Amino acid sequence: MSSIRNDYKKMVFYQIWVRSFCDGNGDGIGDLYGVYDKLGYIKSLGVDAIWLCPVYPSPNADYGYDISDYKNIHPDFGTLDQFRKVLDKTHELGMKLIMDLVVNHTSDEHPWFLESRKGKDNPYSDYYIWRDKPNNWESLFEGKAWEYDETRGQYYLHIFSKKQPDLNMDNPRVREEVKSIMRFWLDMGVDGFREDVINFISKKEGLPDGIPFVPAVNGIFNYKDGPHIHEYLSEFRKVCEEYDCIQIGEGPLTTVKTALMYITGKHKSLDMMFSFDHMMADCLFTEYIHRPFSLKKLKHAFSKWQYSINGKGWNTLYLENHDHPRVISRYGSERFRRESGTMLAASYIFQQGTVFIYQGQEIGMTNIRLRDIEDYKDISSKTNFHKYHLKDTIEARLRRIHLSSRDSSRTPMQWSSARYAGFSSVRPWFNVNPNYKRVNVAKDEKDPNSILNFYRRCVALKKMSRTLTYGQYREFFPDSEQIYIYERTLGKQRWLIICSFAKHPVRVHFPREYAGKKNQLILCNYRETDKNDLCFRPYEARIYRFPAGDEKSQLTD
Ligand code: GLC
Ligand code: CA
Repeated sequence: MSSIRNDYKKMVFYQIWVRSFCDGNGDGIGDLYGVYDKLGYIKSLGVDAIWLCPVYPSPNADYGYDISDYKNIHPDFGTLDQFRKVLDKTHELGMKLIMDLVVNHTSDEHPWFLESRKGKDNPYSDYYIWRDKPNNWESLFEGKAWEYDETRGQYYLHIFSKKQPDLNMDNPRVREEVKSIMRFWLDMGVDGFREDVINFISKKEGLPDGIPFVPAVNGIFNYKDGPHIHEYLSEFRKVCEEYDCIQIGEGPLTTVKTALMYITGKHKSLDMMFSFDHMMADCLFTEYIHRPFSLKKLKHAFSKWQYSINGKGWNTLYLENHDHPRVISRYGSERFRRESGTMLAASYIFQQGTVFIYQGQEIGMTNIRLRDIEDYKDISSKTNFHKYHLKDTIEARLRRIHLSSRDSSRTPMQWSSARYAGFSSVRPWFNVNPNYKRVNVAKDEKDPNSILNFYRRCVALKKMSRTLTYGQYREFFPDSEQIYIYERTLGKQRWLIICSFAKHPVRVHFPREYAGKKNQLILCNYRETDKNDLCFRPYEARIYRFPAGDEKSQLTD
């Protein structure tokens, strides 16, 4: 058996948001029976590991990120037995599986909270953060970050929704609980964790007021990367060191500087972190504060993380997940869906780092447009709609939601052109994107030039080449508003990845040191390409190899 700790740098992950992936038992909700059925499909992408978004019991105030029992499976998704079956088959297929670890907060329906709210003498009293008087922090999801609890006669802190009270990680008993949760899943055989908002778990002592500079995040500097964060994470790290597993941190607004503190050096307590910078090429802080897409911003974010982490730690690479709208609708073009979907794949997969693909991204799913705010499910979309830009027309506000809602990545996976996109035999829990007849797995399987098959080719190529996996990254022409060019080099091996973000043809130049050099065009998202004609068609992407010149030089180097 391969070791995830040794191999994660060359692995490709597939992220599953189970509720919308595949309904295996015909109740309209995606589940672990559906995941089981589709493991072969996932494997066929060339994927090495799966990240399962939370599958634990949850009242779904935040769709699984509000957990009411950490050591069980949500009945909507199946049973612990079914989970074991998924895990075993994943392993049989030679893949790994990591879970979502959500320990900044629980659900308010978690037994710990039900006890804690009973009173100050309760054994669980200090499991959460209680105060007689709230500070000025605002929650990221709804209103003030404090909610008054009648029974206890105090306020509790919730950085996310009211139904997600923050755990008091300063309490050693809470940390023991976290370790016990980790062991529970690791003992069962899971291969690691994606750790949710892990940079929020240690709050500044005394919980001082924040600076009210941007609504909703005014307290962030008092709870992000807090004073005991390394201490707590190193306790969790010790548990992981007893197993063959990895830890990937998610931290909103993480800068590359702080990421390096978590993934390198004496405080190293995570293997990788997710960057948020490249998710802000068309917005400020959140997708809700929309700006026109800027390729320069995107490239700057990509390169910053590539240069800063190279040689010190290891990057994660992603363009989509369950928290962001679909990338074609943001950085590409729905009109040039196939072209921009394939180009975007090449733009990130060949960078240095571990690749993540989010369900539906590989077939170019796009944002959904719903008519009424009531049709949306996501709590943050609803809050944004009701809280901001109230002077705008309803249409304008809905347009913002259409551009920004997390729900766009949570519509049912489009498997075929059958009713309900082949996701379920009955009406699904959430709207299917009406484009499913054009955009689905079955259709893409049949078309050698589909987005799906291009993803397969990119994944296969990346995994084949040591240079594309471990090589150095360098960007050229950072000021171009149309073209993204980067190289990957290892020893004498050189690859050049050229992506056009333009809707019209553009003439491209090789960087000076590549001009006139012998090259091979290894991959392109258009058919019939003359490798020497550098006029790029809309959203064209090409991957060139510049062989080292000696006869021993192989594609695999
Ligand atoms: C993370 C999750 C997101 C969730 C939030 C609160 O950002 O990815 O889906 O809403 O944490 O748990
Ligand atoms: Ca189901």
